[in-house]
Amino acid sequence: MAQDRGASVRADAATLEAPTTSSAPSTYPTEAARRTAFREDFTPELTEPVEANIQGSVPGWLHGSFVRNGPGTFSGMKHLFDGYAMLAKFEFENGSVKVSHKYVQTEAYKAFRQTGKMQFPEFGTTVSPLKSMWLALLGFTDNSSVNVVPTPDGKQLISLTESVAGTFRLDMDLNTLGQLKFEDGVKGLLTTAHPTLLPDGSMINLTSGFGTHYTVFRQNRATNVREEIAQVPLCSPPTPSWIHDFPVTENYAIVPETPIFFNLKAALFGGADYVMFDWKPEQRTILHLVNLKTGAVTQFDAPPYFTFHYINSFETADGASLCFDFSRFEDPDFMNRLMLDNLRGNKRPIAASPVVRITVPLDGSSSSAKLEPLMKDDSYNFCELPRVNPHYKGKEYRYAYAVSAKLPASFGNSLAKFDVEEGSVKQWHEAGCIPVEPLMVPRPGAQDEDDGVVLSVVTGADGKSFLLVLDASSFQELARAHLPHGIPYGFHGTFVHAD
Ligand SMILES: [Fe+2]
Repeated sequence: MAQDRGASVRADAATLEAPTTSSAPSTYPTEAARRTAFREDFTPELTEPVEANIQGSVPGWLHGSFVRNGPGTFSGMKHLFDGYAMLAKFEFENGSVKVSHKYVQTEAYKAFRQTGKMQFPEFGTTVSPLKSMWLALLGFTDNSSVNVVPTPDGKQLISLTESVAGTFRLDMDLNTLGQLKFEDGVKGLLTTAHPTLLPDGSMINLTSGFGTHYTVFRQNRATNVREEIAQVPLCSPPTPSWIHDFPVTENYAIVPETPIFFNLKAALFGGADYVMFDWKPEQRTILHLVNLKTGAVTQFDAPPYFTFHYINSFETADGASLCFDFSRFEDPDFMNRLMLDNLRGNKRPIAASPVVRITVPLDGSSSSAKLEPLMKDDSYNFCELPRVNPHYKGKEYRYAYAVSAKLPASFGNSLAKFDVEEGSVKQWHEAGCIPVEPLMVPRPGAQDEDDGVVLSVVTGADGKSFLLVLDASSFQELARAHLPHGIPYGFHGTFVHAD
């Protein structure tokens, strides 16, 4: 029987407005939206693309496929990060949109389908203790539900999660071709689902295990051969800090050892304060600056923080500093709020995560990094699932797009465009809805950073889903493509241009 890892309810140290009445505010997701987004039963596959009903006008230049990864079912599960991977594809051509969705054929998913219940432990749900121990030796679950990236030729997809075993190849019709196996000698069972894709067809990522170091590597995305760049020592071996995402610029990567550490016992049996992690803010944060050309590693001190994602990072024009931006949680309690019981019942208010910048000196002037807020307006105090114009990834930039919150909120209920130069925000919100990661797609040939569209799959107040198309400059709605049904919550996606 599936078991809760035992996340306890912590004090709300950084909570945005708690509900004050017994009836839910209109800014909270409706019951129908929550039933779809966090569904207990099984979402059927949609193998033949279905044409969506367009309201408004989809730009004709948008030609290609928006593919998004996320859970298809939460059957028997406890946490938002547990669901079995289902890729959804939205195909744009001449202003029309066709939708399809299929599951990634992982061992964890196939075992669930054969037996009707979970056979592998997932992020927030364990299985029997003996089975967990045995599976841990094999490399954890292969449920590949977090992200998806295209191959350099745009002809295949790679789905990703935080176990190396959960890396799968798929064709553009979302058929699973098989697990991607690595035979290059780079060791480590764990990785991140957030590699940085480089223009030369390679990508930067890291692996870790329960040993002495992280390994930062460069992967050729055509051959999938990985080459070690540097080994970064763990500050508390053998338990690594949990790194979901990390900043990469043209010349550097930052390996951020924030004070959230795997709890090995809880990973197998449950019982940690934060799902399977311990929080040790007294250890502050160690930022490992990795020179991607030489492999040299330098350490910097920074304040303790918790985050899931980094918005962007860049080296300043004078070469004196490296900056990276993210939304800062005071502690990892937001992870506990993502237990499905909380989400299905609108039980807990959202946690604050204001947008901040850390500046790391590259000129040898200090071994400490500086943290500062970026936004002027405190009312937009939640930011998650951020994206930027892909042409500005790793470079100086101005605009970020993210899930945000219109208060009071129990969950991300809005989308926002953050201007990190001015510190201002534009917001899109519709009562009762649940939007997900807004993907920015620049218009071909665009000169301005915000010339393009922003795409987000939204669970509507009626429980059906629609693909929202916003103008990336004005942040006004251009169109929505209505699906005849609802699809569950999702995480990260990509746009694959047709040409
Ligand atoms: Fe992520």
